[in-house]
Amino acid sequence: MDKILIQGGRRLEGEVSVSGSKNAALPLLISSLLTPEKCLYQGIPDLMDIHTTLKLLSRLGVTVEKDGRQAGGVGQVALQAGGLSGMEAPYDLVKTMRASFLVLGPLLARFGQARVSTPGGCAIGMRPVNLHLKGLAEMGAEIDLVHGYVEAKAKKLRGARIHLDLPSVGATENLMMAGTLAEGTTIIENAAKEPEIEELATVLNKMGARIGGAGRGMVTIEGVGGLHGVSHRVVPDRIEAGTFMVAAALTGGDIAVRGARSDHLDAFVLKLQEAGVGVAVAADEIRVKGAIKPKSVDITTLPYPGFPTDLQAQMMVLMSVSAGVSVITETIFENRFMHALELSRMGADIRLEGNRAVVKGVGSLSGAPVMATDLRASVSLVLAGLVAKGQTEISRVYHLDRGYEHIERKLSRLGADIQRIKG
Ligand code: EPZ
Repeated sequence: MDKILIQGGRRLEGEVSVSGSKNAALPLLISSLLTPEKCLYQGIPDLMDIHTTLKLLSRLGVTVEKDGRQAGGVGQVALQAGGLSGMEAPYDLVKTMRASFLVLGPLLARFGQARVSTPGGCAIGMRPVNLHLKGLAEMGAEIDLVHGYVEAKAKKLRGARIHLDLPSVGATENLMMAGTLAEGTTIIENAAKEPEIEELATVLNKMGARIGGAGRGMVTIEGVGGLHGVSHRVVPDRIEAGTFMVAAALTGGDIAVRGARSDHLDAFVLKLQEAGVGVAVAADEIRVKGAIKPKSVDITTLPYPGFPTDLQAQMMVLMSVSAGVSVITETIFENRFMHALELSRMGADIRLEGNRAVVKGVGSLSGAPVMATDLRASVSLVLAGLVAKGQTEISRVYHLDRGYEHIERKLSRLGADIQRIKG
């Protein structure tokens, strides 16, 4: 397994381009199941999770054409789900990437049947799929759980009024896709409002769907007879953008994050500014200048447009070298503080109390061998390594490769002393 070595203490400066959004691209690629026509997606990042999704789709019989590195260093993918050779998303793929579960809605909507492994839990929490299943059942699907698989069938899904107990991103995406070909109108109340929801609705509407209210908490989907192909460039990755912004803040650097959509990061930008970090927002760039010593601020993760849980670990690193005490409350996942244990080994002063972490700023962190546990935790260890004294060695970096495209290349171009040791 690869490792990453970092010699800390370098000030990062220059400009970095944000890759396409992983969490927008995954449902977009899967939505190609809804039409027999060709779907062309640009700006697809070169990530493990993308490759897993393409492997799953080709196992279902979707033709997949990947077209290398396009101008601007982004990838193009053409998919066509003419006829399928199977309706099953197997455990070996779903367990490595829970977003595979999103094939359920499209398969049911277009083909009337599906056999999808339940994702099981993951490092950050149980992550059940009850809201996905409850909504599909309300749309008329017959659902059985057999040997860890969801076996579902529906002659024709019918529109329903669905209320989500939690504004689940995945459940909103699954049900939106299911509703596009259902008989009648589906209304999803308490729907997730993340930018990825708006992006999916935009693309589905380009395919001929009739979706309104995406991003505003109540989504209405009028079922249509069929969808056609599409060509679309995926939005930039707001979480990658935020991660590089923290890198600038941490190292007292000066980084222009090109392609970042500031309207997708309002709560996060405000928090950085509250911590005394210089953030200048332009049309398609965010310029960040690090503070000498960041102020301690309290953070509570919330569904969008609140502070994003996917940037909680990164902010914990910044708070661990801030001037006072910060309380970080994680309200989305029940076990998303594992990075705190690794950061403590680097000298951070963090006390965990249930879903709260009390972070007392220290003078500096010190490099150490640490282990990545999940995607966003792994990048927080990279950030800590950038600012720690001495060398940090990070193992299990496969977690990192799931969500960050060539991060060590991007960081070394900004002046970091970082290298990947092939293992
Ligand atoms: C998406 O996961 C993202 N993943 C996550 O990003 C992100 O952290 C999360 O949304 C929240 O913003 C992708 O988009 C691929 P949820 P998802 O359903 O859809 C509970 C990353 O690092 N819940 O909104 O799985 C669930 O347990 C990843 O890129 C139910 O109880 O998140 C969690 O506590 C990590 N029942 C909360 O809702 C359900 O049926 C939010 O989950 C579904 C969810």
